[in-house]
Amino acid sequence: MKEIEIPVLVVGAGPAGLAATALLARYGIQTLAITRYPGTANSPRAHITNQRTIEVMRDLGIEDRVRAQATPNALMLNNVWATSFAGKELARLQAWGGGDRRRADYDQASPCGMCNIPQHLLEPIILAAAREQGAQFLFNTELKTISQDADGVTAEMVDTISGEEIRVRARYAVGADGGNSLVAKQLGFEFDGEMGLGAAISCWLEVDLTPYVQHRPGVLYWMAEPGNSYWFGSGTFVCVRPWNEWIMLSMYDKSRGEPDLSEDAIVARARAVIGVPDIAVKVKSANKWQINHIAARDMGKGRVFLAGDAAHRHPPANGLGTNTSIQDGFNLAWKLALVLKGQAGPGLLETYSQERQPVARGVVDRAMKSVNDMKAIADAIGFTPGQSAQEGWANLDELFSDSVRGRERRAQLDAAVALQNYQFNCHGVELGQMYASSAIVPDGSVRRAAERDRELYYQATTFPGASLPHAWVEHERRRISTLDLAGHGRFALLAGRSDQVWRAAAAQAGSALGIDIPVYSIGAGCEVQDIYGDWARLREVSESGCLLVRPDRHVAWRKHAAPDQRQAAAELLDALQAILGRQAHAGHGARVAAEAGAF
Ligand code: FDA
Repeated sequence: MKEIEIPVLVVGAGPAGLAATALLARYGIQTLAITRYPGTANSPRAHITNQRTIEVMRDLGIEDRVRAQATPNALMLNNVWATSFAGKELARLQAWGGGDRRRADYDQASPCGMCNIPQHLLEPIILAAAREQGAQFLFNTELKTISQDADGVTAEMVDTISGEEIRVRARYAVGADGGNSLVAKQLGFEFDGEMGLGAAISCWLEVDLTPYVQHRPGVLYWMAEPGNSYWFGSGTFVCVRPWNEWIMLSMYDKSRGEPDLSEDAIVARARAVIGVPDIAVKVKSANKWQINHIAARDMGKGRVFLAGDAAHRHPPANGLGTNTSIQDGFNLAWKLALVLKGQAGPGLLETYSQERQPVARGVVDRAMKSVNDMKAIADAIGFTPGQSAQEGWANLDELFSDSVRGRERRAQLDAAVALQNYQFNCHGVELGQMYASSAIVPDGSVRRAAERDRELYYQATTFPGASLPHAWVEHERRRISTLDLAGHGRFALLAGRSDQVWRAAAAQAGSALGIDIPVYSIGAGCEVQDIYGDWARLREVSESGCLLVRPDRHVAWRKHAAPDQRQAAAELLDALQAILGRQAHAGHGARVAAEAGAF
């Protein structure tokens, strides 16, 4: 049996495994990822890629590569409900922050725009980035058993081509092995929720829909054909490449048997949904999948951590599948890196589950609620299971009639479409993840109340646990985001006018802990120019205060005003020790600072 020793083993090379591997490699950790498949995703699958995920790509230095392959935000604008592409349009919603009413919210929240990049195009980009950083991959390699002891993880796998058996011994492992996670099963992870709540087929098609979409560009077209007993089943078209590559996604009722996936059947169905009987359609592939609503109770057990679908499985609504999977890795990778480098205690790793499990639970529940909320549209349109096509069309005639009932029903449809903002413009859910754990040090303040609906609207804050707010600033004659000052596997200290206090404090704490803490002063006339005054409005601390930002760009600690230099150093050291799981008792920093006699 071949034996391999490696600091981190990642099981799975989907979005979760690839992102974790690329980030670990970038942070200097030798990592081996395995996948039982011969390559990355062979079909489009997930596609909506939100701003937080693009921020991770920015951290990896591959944002431009992703953008080059993606459908830009401007072309994601319209969500359309219609009887068919060529048929009657029923409703339209401006989506994914592209609409006039939401664009500013999205633009102000992040330097990165949301985009649409299907999984089979995104995965090779992350794979290439991981390899450039030295990560190793074994394709065609299937995990068979995994176990752990006090010192490490042992995984046995087999090369599915040669049959060679391989035993890997790792200090830590990441189970990113998808919805049927063997890692989760063998290590006894527990889940809450239900699997198999619905069945779906995704058919990848080449078909030119330019005449039907160019005047209403978007990436999701919901086709509801009157008389279709499973109304949702008519077919949702997901843009793969504008406007000639698509996924036709259809729900089906398993109790009525499995659908016919022959090429002829798929082409016939596609033509019916498009509403053009002779349109040229090429079928590239067809996959069945199911709707789940399940989340792990814990995302870590000893030396093994779950990421992606291995930990949370939910419907595609809100487009949170791949996004959440990639963001798991962004939370975990720096923690593993610091622990493996001896710069943090193992307690830091417990914060992964403390922080990500509530996010996973929230995402799973939000996605399921969004699926259920879609029924409001079916109700408003007047489509019910079992009705004939004639009844369905009669309902539509009434909906669009100049009558009291027509007006009432149109108001109902407007409300049903507005409800879909919780799926298609759900900015607070997309960006507003707030962490609470021992890797976040409270400052004694109370979180500012939400000014608008917390799910629909993201509210930037530097409250400890929040993601660092974005503001455009200028550094060395370059316009950059405040987000660019943080990340890259390091803590950063963002200060203002009193940066000398914080520079000395960071040097002292950094040398005591063996970590590098870059300090930036932001403000008018500072090293980083607050060109539009936006940072002053966002930072929520005074000019003399500071923010300590973690490598995943979440605020770990903040100080509203600078104390004297000795106290600043002591408080920063205390905060870092707590965050890193190193002698985390209050007052220790003061003693170290005094003993070091640095001030
Ligand atoms: P993913 O399933 O992508 O990857 C798992 C990895 O683990 C693979 O590399 C696999 O080889 C590996 N693996 C598993 N068992 C192994 C073993 N025993 N040994 C070795 N390797 C093993 N989501 C969404 O948000 N919008 C959407 O439209 C869709 N559509 C969609 C369609 C279809 C057909 C599918 C199958 C899924 C979707 N999804 C989706 C879900 C989305 O694809 C999903 O959330 C992400 O792929 C999750 O990424 P992971 O990396 O966690 O798992």
